[in-house]
Amino acid sequence: MTDLAYQRCIRPSCAATYAIDEVRVACQACGGLLDVVYDWDRLNPPRELSYFEGKWSQRYDPLALSGVWRFYELLPFAKREQVVTIGEGQTLLQSAPAVAKYVGLKGAGKLLLEYEGMNPSGSFKDNGMTAAFTHAHTIGAKRAACASTGNTSASLALYCSVTHLMKAVIFIGSGKISYGKLSQALDYGALTMQIAGDFDDAMARVREVSSRLGIYLVNSVNPFRLEGQKTIMCRVLEGLRWEVPDWIVVPGGNLGNSSAFGKAFAEMKEIGLIDRVPRLAVINATGSNTLHELYEKRSLRWNGGEPDQSVADGYYQELDEHARRASTIASAIEINRPVNLDKCLRALEFCDGVVREVSDQEILDAKAQVGAGGMGCEPASAASVAGAKLLVEQGVIQPDERVVCILTGHQLKDPTATVAYHTTDQDQFNKVLGSRGVKRASYANRAVAVPNELDEIVKAIQLYS
Ligand code: F0G
Repeated sequence: MTDLAYQRCIRPSCAATYAIDEVRVACQACGGLLDVVYDWDRLNPPRELSYFEGKWSQRYDPLALSGVWRFYELLPFAKREQVVTIGEGQTLLQSAPAVAKYVGLKGAGKLLLEYEGMNPSGSFKDNGMTAAFTHAHTIGAKRAACASTGNTSASLALYCSVTHLMKAVIFIGSGKISYGKLSQALDYGALTMQIAGDFDDAMARVREVSSRLGIYLVNSVNPFRLEGQKTIMCRVLEGLRWEVPDWIVVPGGNLGNSSAFGKAFAEMKEIGLIDRVPRLAVINATGSNTLHELYEKRSLRWNGGEPDQSVADGYYQELDEHARRASTIASAIEINRPVNLDKCLRALEFCDGVVREVSDQEILDAKAQVGAGGMGCEPASAASVAGAKLLVEQGVIQPDERVVCILTGHQLKDPTATVAYHTTDQDQFNKVLGSRGVKRASYANRAVAVPNELDEIVKAIQLYS
């Protein structure tokens, strides 16, 4: 293979290669996941990260404005003129001292929150969507599909509606998507297939349907998605003036982000842009904890590219035998069969990673803290903060280390969970959250009910403020 960019099976024992314009979500030879691979020697990318600062003065150019394509030289699989961007990646790395205290970190600037909610569709997915969409466009796709817990579908639907380049077909589980996300897909005009089942069912179906109908699949099994998501790490480094933090903590669902982050650091190290890598912590919700179970309890490892498939298969068989379905208030990560498992194992190996699980109670409490001391986030995102807190308590993260938690989605994505947490009505609280073992709203900010009378309102404000 002499191309500057191509696709390659991630299993070293196979390493089959495919041209960049082939549409594949798995290796034809062995069924493994695919990587986008670059010939860095011939591409000759920048050797200093500060090179990218030059793009800031060119913000009239959509590629320099985009927080993804500003790092074009690190994902050069398409020609510049082929790139489809809607201005994604204008995100913030926020220092959050109050949340740092909650997590147990000591000292200024130790906890940073990478707020991906500022993306056009309100989640980190736009980083990946611009890349997959660009690839889809270069190969002439007219329809694109995904299964989704809500954010991928909102993102795909938005790229379709803004650009009119493709039609979106989205698959969601019935009753498994927050209203904020569903409203986006409907508003943006996506063909929305609500199937009887959960995300894992929808994922399996969309693979069959897209293969039968020749629809371009944009789930994170698509290797181009992950190319865009690599740039989240570039922006984290940028926010730290190109210093590498000690830890990256990220929620784990389908494991696209964690996989992309590992690839980003591996490539930046190979190119010589960084000389050390941060440690990676991937946080599952207790009710959908496949990675935690496989990695921490059953010791499944990347193992030089030969993870023991029987460990994962055995676990999935147990799930089926007990009819165990994923269940968490963090609906975005309510996933039992993560499609990027192998790539995530590789990332954990490269970044000396750990995996933890946190309960819905811990997630919602952390979310309330992020709301009170950060920019807010949706429940799944707060798993990162809850996970960081747990790791500090366990002595895995040291209190003086610098930790970046990825806040993957906007606060307004799932108002139902937020309002239920803060509600004054215990029945309502139990109805929405109780069945999942959330017993108390530790940081509830309850609305104060007052009669519509001036004196009463004044009295109440004096009482409560
Ligand atoms: N956080 C949010 C807000 C998400 O929407 C997702 C995934 C994740 C975390 C997990 O990321 O899959 O890369 O490990 N949402 C997908 C979707 C599955 O369909 O929107 P991951």
